Amino acid sequence: MSGAAADPTSIPPLSDITLVEFANNTTGDIWNELLVLARQPGVVNLGQGFPDYDGSKVAREAAAEAMVDPAKSALNQYSMPLGLQSLQSAVSTFYNKSYGLKEGAVNRAIEPENVLVTIGATEGLYASLKTLSGPGDEVIIFNPGFPWYLTTTRVVGATPVLVELDGPDFAPDMEKLEEAITPKTKVLLINTPHNPCGHCYTKEEMEGFARLALKHNLFVISDEVYENVTFGEARHHRIADEEGMFERTVTLCSASKLFSLTGWRVGWALSTPDLLKGLAVYHGNTSYCAPSPLQHGLAVALGVEDGSFEGIPKLVEGNAELLGKALTDKGFAVTQPQGGHFLVADTTPLGLKGLECAKLLLTHAKVGVVPGVIFYFPDDTGVDPDRPLLRFAICKRRDTIEEAVRRIREMDFPAPK
Ligand SMILES: Cc1ncc(COP(=O)(O)O)c(C=O)c1O
Repeated sequence: MSGAAADPTSIPPLSDITLVEFANNTTGDIWNELLVLARQPGVVNLGQGFPDYDGSKVAREAAAEAMVDPAKSALNQYSMPLGLQSLQSAVSTFYNKSYGLKEGAVNRAIEPENVLVTIGATEGLYASLKTLSGPGDEVIIFNPGFPWYLTTTRVVGATPVLVELDGPDFAPDMEKLEEAITPKTKVLLINTPHNPCGHCYTKEEMEGFARLALKHNLFVISDEVYENVTFGEARHHRIADEEGMFERTVTLCSASKLFSLTGWRVGWALSTPDLLKGLAVYHGNTSYCAPSPLQHGLAVALGVEDGSFEGIPKLVEGNAELLGKALTDKGFAVTQPQGGHFLVADTTPLGLKGLECAKLLLTHAKVGVVPGVIFYFPDDTGVDPDRPLLRFAICKRRDTIEEAVRRIREMDFPAPK
């Protein structure tokens, strides 16, 4: 006989992993508060990294046609879980052409079977971490970084190990990185161009990562969602193109960034069929496949892309220069980005903490930004989590940036204490 009957008005507790995540998520409230404030009328929102210009016209028109043209009605049904074949082929052709990848070379060609279409890089990240790591495994993450790295690592049950990036250039310190590797390390998670710091890994840095991954037998998850946005002399280098790395790398890419279509939720993971088979377990059991008409739109857009991406990378580069100059003139210590969608500025010379400065910018200049407390992962080094760094999204129309610059230039910052 069982004991006392359960209280019919109570429900069982949520899973342990969910409850731990609730307890660990200490910055969610600040983020939500800033998000609501930054979306108020009259605020120039350089907080969240979504474009305020239109995404690829070619992709949108082709997707719209797929949705309404009776001759294309089949495109409104499930596609194969790995992706619509036309998109897998278009991705393969696009990467081989853009990066000069070749069959039999070290930087070997990407075939359609090396492509798994995901629900954005976010799902790609989850499926990769779930495939490559689990309880007892350590995942190395650079700090600061894209907030999902920490939470997703925890959600899959693995242990995040943080390696600090130091300003002003936020380049990785290979000695510090090697010191963080233990026998439990399974995955090195890298991101280039970097969110939020705008650093693009050099060829030498990629070789350094490859050397460590091979020496310590690690997988690499390489988040390259901003691959097409590099500035000046900076170039995008792919870790998968380093000798011996293709087999142990999952590269995450995204139409959110490539074609400025963040709401479409389509991306792709590039790897070997064996590793993608692992990712497909989680992709198949969460979403099954990405939206078919949108995949079609992206296949068409990739097919005609000439590398200019409708002028967006040039626009973002100009935005970085404009905003960087204004912030420097106001006394911020600016890290001029080498690529990506963000610019970071240190508030120390102004005598302000990050959150304090973000709130001042919001209330006095009505410019929304993200403070360091959001994109720095909390660590156990005793460093104040309110780091004196602000992140500005620069994936915006030129007039948006000009308005933000005008407001920031007019603002009176308190005299340094
Ligand atoms: C570095 C990085 N990786 C991944 C993502 C998520 O991309 P997606 O929209 O494809 O899920 C973002 C979005 O901001 C990002 O900044």
